[in-house]
Amino acid sequence: MAIIRTEGLSKVFRTGFTMKKVEAVKGVDLKVDAGEIYGFIGPNGAGKTSTIKMLTGLILPTAGEAWIQDIPVSDPKCRAHLGFLPEGTFFHEYLTGREFLDFHGQLLGIDKATRQKRAGELLERVGIPHAGDMRIRSYSKGMRQRVGLAQALIADPEVVILDEPMSGLDPLGRKDVRDLILSLRDEGKTVFFSSHILGDAEVICDQVAIIVNGNIVHQGYIDDLLGQEVSGVELVLEGIDAPLFEELKVGATRAITQGPRFLLEFEDEASAQRVLERTLEAKGHVRSLVPRRRSLEDLFVEEAKKGNYA
Ligand SMILES: Nc1ncnc2c1ncn2[C@@H]1O[C@H](COP(=O)(O)OP(=O)(O)OP(=O)(O)O)[C@@H](O)[C@H]1O
Ligand SMILES: [Mg+2]
Repeated sequence: MAIIRTEGLSKVFRTGFTMKKVEAVKGVDLKVDAGEIYGFIGPNGAGKTSTIKMLTGLILPTAGEAWIQDIPVSDPKCRAHLGFLPEGTFFHEYLTGREFLDFHGQLLGIDKATRQKRAGELLERVGIPHAGDMRIRSYSKGMRQRVGLAQALIADPEVVILDEPMSGLDPLGRKDVRDLILSLRDEGKTVFFSSHILGDAEVICDQVAIIVNGNIVHQGYIDDLLGQEVSGVELVLEGIDAPLFEELKVGATRAITQGPRFLLEFEDEASAQRVLERTLEAKGHVRSLVPRRRSLEDLFVEEAKKGNYA
């Protein structure tokens, strides 16, 4: 069953004196299945936040429709089981993290005992159990993002929509958020999140939609989008001499020497195999051999080359 569905969803903003038209979202059709992690990927200004604002009822579509759990998003009922992390969350700076969570729980009609229990659990879950009684004013950017995530989960929602959940976080923090999203899926929840960081999406998403200039340019299962075939092999070698390196690098798409290390990249597996055998014959060492699959990054670059970024 599609948990989130949109048909021809569009948004036109009119700005400035001249009421200039900005077509932010152009007829987007999405279908997010139950229990999936769905990545909504696109560069800055692509229309991610505008789409998410329509899904969460913050702005009205200019055209098209959207449903969450088969309820039209115009119906406030559809927000009863929805958790939402907005982009650049507005915070009541003078509240402590715990008070902030309590406040949101109260808005959602959760009873006091449950609120208090959940606030404690969630602060722990997002990795800031020590900060519950500190004012948000003193939180770092990463801590704000984390307490925002906790806020999105306070009602124990079935569907979670996160606008750039990894933004402002360092690599460790990003990993924590990835793990949190995975744990939500393990609990059977559906997670829809936006990002412009392809790597974050590639590792955890079941499906992705790539939006560029308000249009969905790709949509589907990661494996189908990227294919399974190997697009290249990278080898890092040590303990070989320069003449051998000169011999081995014939046909390589990349050949780099760095101190005692040699990096070679080939498009085909056969060449990599040949280099591997020659290196071992010469008693050299293979530090690593990494097959390169097409990545979401590659897909993005291809779209950019087609002019879909312009
Ligand atoms: N309230 C608004 N009034 C006018 N134009 C807007 C408004 N909100 C967004 N836009 C425009 O719509 C387009 C899409 O913006 P949106 O915020 O949806 O992109 P985004 O994909 O979320 O980008 P980012 O990665 O930077 O967050 C942009 O050109 C933006 O300038
Ligand atoms: Mg945005």
